[in-house]
Parts: sequence; C-alpha cells; structure tokens
Amino acid sequence: MANRRGTPPITANAALPAAADTHGPNAEQALAQYRQRAAWYDLELLPFEPIRHKAVERLALSAGQTVIDVGCGTGLSLPQLAAGVGSSGLVVGVEPSAEMLAHASAKLSRADASVQLVLARADAVDDCALPVADAMLMHFTHDVLRDPVAVQALMRHVRPGGRVVSAGLQWAPLWAPMANLFVWSAALYSTTCLEGLNAPWDSLRPYLDDLQVEPLWAGAIYIATGRRNHRPA
Ligand SMILES: C[S@@+](CC[C@H](N)C(=O)[O-])C[C@H]1O[C@@H](n2cnc3c(N)ncnc32)[C@H](O)[C@@H]1O
Repeated sequence: MANRRGTPPITANAALPAAADTHGPNAEQALAQYRQRAAWYDLELLPFEPIRHKAVERLALSAGQTVIDVGCGTGLSLPQLAAGVGSSGLVVGVEPSAEMLAHASAKLSRADASVQLVLARADAVDDCALPVADAMLMHFTHDVLRDPVAVQALMRHVRPGGRVVSAGLQWAPLWAPMANLFVWSAALYSTTCLEGLNAPWDSLRPYLDDLQVEPLWAGAIYIATGRRNHRPA
C-alpha cells in the first residue's frame, strides 16, 4: 500500500459523496476554495509555520509509527511527519482537493519515510483501506472537525492510546477584538463553516483522553492534544 519516495502515490477514491447538510461544512465549496488557492497556498501559510512545527511536535512521533495527516493540503506537514516516523514508518496524507494533493505529491522526494497520498474526503476514509494509525494530525481543518460523520470515521483509524493533534482558528476572548477580526476573515477565507469556532476541538472530546488545549496568538489559534480512548467510533 505504501509508496516509496519519488513516486507520485495518489490513490483516487472513486466515491466522493455530496455534502450532508447545509448548516455544516460544504464539500463542493471547499473544493472550489482550494482549487483557487493551491498555487499560492504555501506562500500564504508561511506565517503559520511555527504553529505547524509545534503541532507536529505535540504528536511525539517515534520511529516506525504510522501517522495520518487529515486534510494534508499541499503537504506542508509531510516532511516533519516523515522525519518523526523515520524510514521504517508510514505517513498517510488524506486530501479531497486534487489540486492541493498534486503539490503534496511534488514534495514527496524530500520525505524520508514511506508516504501515501489518498484523494478522499475525511468522511470517506472507511472506503480507502486506510491503516489504523498511531497518531493523527488535523492542521487547520475546521470543516473536518465540524462534520460528525468525518470525525467518527477518522477516529476508527487511530489505535487506542494513539495521539491526536488538532490545530486551527478559534474565537479569541472578547478583549481581543483585533484577534477576532483576524479569525473571522481567515475563517471566511479558509473554511466553509463558522460554526463551532468557540471550541473547534469539542467534536473530538468524546474520543480522546487527557485532552489539552493550548491557546496561541492572543487566543486566536489553538493546539488541542489528546490520546484516543477505547470508545468505539
Ligand atoms: C487550511 S487547509 C490546511 C491544509 C494542511 N493541513 C496545512 O496545514 O497546510 C484545509 C485543507 O482541508 C481540506 N479539506 C476540506 N474539507 C475536507 C474534508 N471534508 N476532508 C478532508 N480534507 C478536507 C482542504 O481541501 C484543504 O486542503
């Protein structure tokens, strides 16, 4: 299943079902958003790189582990994840935008571990023969967190005790209006659903033990870290 570095390992998932409801995330709108952004995405994300670095550190990866990068986008997290699991490990990037995934594929020659890229939405991972991983990263994937079907499917792919780290935007405290202006504009630009920005990680809470939430950037950004519990998903 794993593809060695240098090969373009994109697995097309035939079934990309339509979005479930109109109040939560909108899958078609997200595809359009990231089709437009793919070419410039890496430049736009430069200011956020220290957050990515910290979020991947929170996974505490070790050699030989399997880690899933949900909504891996252009693959900016892949090199650090690959370094964390070493050449005996496996990194699986799941991403529904073919345009974003093409950029991820182009980065693979710089990764050390086996890396597999899967073209799929998070709610469809059960159809993709995804492994049960030791760790999972959800870096700036608010739409995924706000889709209960996706969260449930993803949690079936983390072993009990495995680390789950999510990072992203959240509403800052009321005393920080400029931070909230930033959250509002960034969320409109990068998500299709503003619902749940007060506590984006709360959809993970039922599935995680020891959930810790670290606020950054005057509370406008969070990194949530927990360990998968034994609750069936
Ligand atoms: C802000 S980008 C983050 C990309 C990457 N995680 C990073 O940190 O650079 C959000 C990504 O989530 C992906 N996405 C949106 N809806 C998704 C879904 N339902 N399942 C999986 N990924 C999704 C988008 O295509 C996009 O690549």
